[in-house]
Amino acid sequence: MQYKAPSGTRDIFASDITLWHMVEKTACKQAERAGYIEIRTPAFEQTDLFMRGIGEESEVVQKQMYTFTTPGGESLTLRPEITAPVMRAYIEHSMHKTGAFRKFYYLGPSFRYERAQKGRWRQFSQFGVEAIGSESPLADVETIVLAWDILKQSGVPGLKLLINSIGCPECRPLFRKALGDYITEKKDKLCKDCVRRIDTNILRILDCKNESCREAVKDAPDVSQFLCQTCETHFEVVKRGVKQFIPDWKLDPHLVRGLDYYTHTVYEFVAGELGSQNAVGGGGRYNLLVEELGGPPTPSVGFALGLDRIVLSLQSSVENRLANASPTVYLVSISDELREPAFEIVLRLRRSSIPADMDFENRSLKAQFRAANKSGAQFVAVLGPEEHSKGLVNLKCLADGTQEPVSVESLVEKILGKK
Ligand code: HAM
Repeated sequence: MQYKAPSGTRDIFASDITLWHMVEKTACKQAERAGYIEIRTPAFEQTDLFMRGIGEESEVVQKQMYTFTTPGGESLTLRPEITAPVMRAYIEHSMHKTGAFRKFYYLGPSFRYERAQKGRWRQFSQFGVEAIGSESPLADVETIVLAWDILKQSGVPGLKLLINSIGCPECRPLFRKALGDYITEKKDKLCKDCVRRIDTNILRILDCKNESCREAVKDAPDVSQFLCQTCETHFEVVKRGVKQFIPDWKLDPHLVRGLDYYTHTVYEFVAGELGSQNAVGGGGRYNLLVEELGGPPTPSVGFALGLDRIVLSLQSSVENRLANASPTVYLVSISDELREPAFEIVLRLRRSSIPADMDFENRSLKAQFRAANKSGAQFVAVLGPEEHSKGLVNLKCLADGTQEPVSVESLVEKILGKK
């Protein structure tokens, strides 16, 4: 029997891990610069947390949760997202009692039983932030700009922001009613799921991917016509901030998001070259969630980025891959006896923060040169018996083809000067 990774999961290997590390480091650094501190919550929680938090009618709760009963009879669920767990921790540890504004970031796997395809996995990793306890629209702007900067600095190609406001409990019922009146007329054009959504989760019909549903909602009423004064003023400030700091954004009146806890601002980031699974992140304001989970009224806002999709978008750029994964120097030894001194040079370079590598399979000289070229290294350092006896290596710069003997002592300086 040959075991395989379960459908929707996969193994990740070295060249991709380099990209993962780069994105993770970029995200953590940027979040910390904006005053967010890390929080780590368990991979599973009580099932009820997600039913209440995400919403019983949401697709995630209806169809995508990995729920199991423990031998002790407790129902637990692998987290399908990390916002509800962070709010649970916030309430459980009485952070609301100090009344202070709290800002957390997190990083880790989430689990959804979805139809697996490229860009959509059953185990995937999220990086997210939650700004808890502020109703200021500037907090919305802060999270949007932070997510944008992380994605941009990571190198995500063709990045675009979509934003919308889906109102609050005061104005949303009016919009829901208008949408209901409109959509009931088009019921026969809707997919099976959307027919059910008319009664359970009508807003979700707006962003159904089914072609016939898209056509049906093309001229649906626009949520912006129904926003109350508070929602409108809030959204105006958010848009002002976005206009100033995000070069590529669009108002999308059909953007509603898949989790039920949102109020006011919602947003999503899409990347080019990813096909149908092009959302690399999403978030919004959720002023009622903490209360829904048993805490006091606590207006909050946050986002989560899909790290797997971000890395996928970067992989399409071969250049990026080479730049991130390759050693700077590849050591080639002319004879077997010189492998040990060559290895010493590799270690010395690494200790000086210069990425270096060599052949560990006793390959022929020709094969070592082939590996050096394939590795994407900027320099090849060749160690022959004559060079070794004089404390030298022959340093070849692959970009311009120049070659010169360099003393091992000054190798670091030479490379740094040429880089
Ligand atoms: P979400 O839109 O469900 O939001 O997920 C955020 C991101 O996670 C998506 O944009 C996508 O990049 C990634 N993602 C989701 N499902 C998958 C999957 N099956 N495979 C690969 N990537 C996936 C949330 O989870 C909210 N908790 C975000 C939030 C934080 N809202 C407020 N605070």
